Amino acid sequence: MTEPLLRPADPGDEPRLRAVAEASKAHWGYDAERVGNWAETLDLSREIWIAEVAGEIVAWSALLPPSEGICELDDLWVEPRAIGTGIGTVLFRQAEAHARHLGARALRWEADPNAVGFYERMGAAVVGTATSSWGRSLPVMQVEL
Ligand SMILES: CC(C)(COP(=O)(O)OP(=O)(O)OC[C@H]1O[C@@H](n2cnc3c(N)ncnc32)[C@H](O)[C@@H]1OP(=O)(O)O)[C@@H](O)C(=O)NCCC(=O)NCCS
Repeated sequence: MTEPLLRPADPGDEPRLRAVAEASKAHWGYDAERVGNWAETLDLSREIWIAEVAGEIVAWSALLPPSEGICELDDLWVEPRAIGTGIGTVLFRQAEAHARHLGARALRWEADPNAVGFYERMGAAVVGTATSSWGRSLPVMQVEL
């Protein structure tokens, strides 16, 4: 695996962040128009970390500050051509380390059903369910820090 460079996002990264998120979510075969609308309205005003390979953004994650000791991992998107290359692991481990640094005791998120196996590989477990913005019931996953 080519080790990605991790850095916080700059305001100028916004178009590329939306493009990566759109391509990444569409990887699971969801309706293209629906995914496009979702990507356009994604809230990017959070703490976002970027993974770059050869100077290009190929993945990113977003973390919300801890509330009652739990940080929320609000996004984790790897561009399709970089899926399966270990970048998701690098960003996930960085989010864990950063949440710990912020004083959190756990990291939690709503998982896409197709990504549950990945998160289980990261040591996480399903702790509940939540209704998504698309009206789907999604697994809520958590890892202790
Ligand atoms: C889910 C996602 C973030 C994983 O990132 P990735 O870079 O492809 O994952 P890695 O290459 O680091 O994989 C780490 C391990 O998890 C496994 N894994 C990866 N994706 C998996 C999946 N969808 N289901 C089951 N196992 C998976 C890998 O085989 C690997 O196992 P190994 O250590 O035995 O080799 C990435 O596939 C993605 O962005 N998918 C589309 C968007 C998405 O679903 N994002 C998450 C929203 S909650």
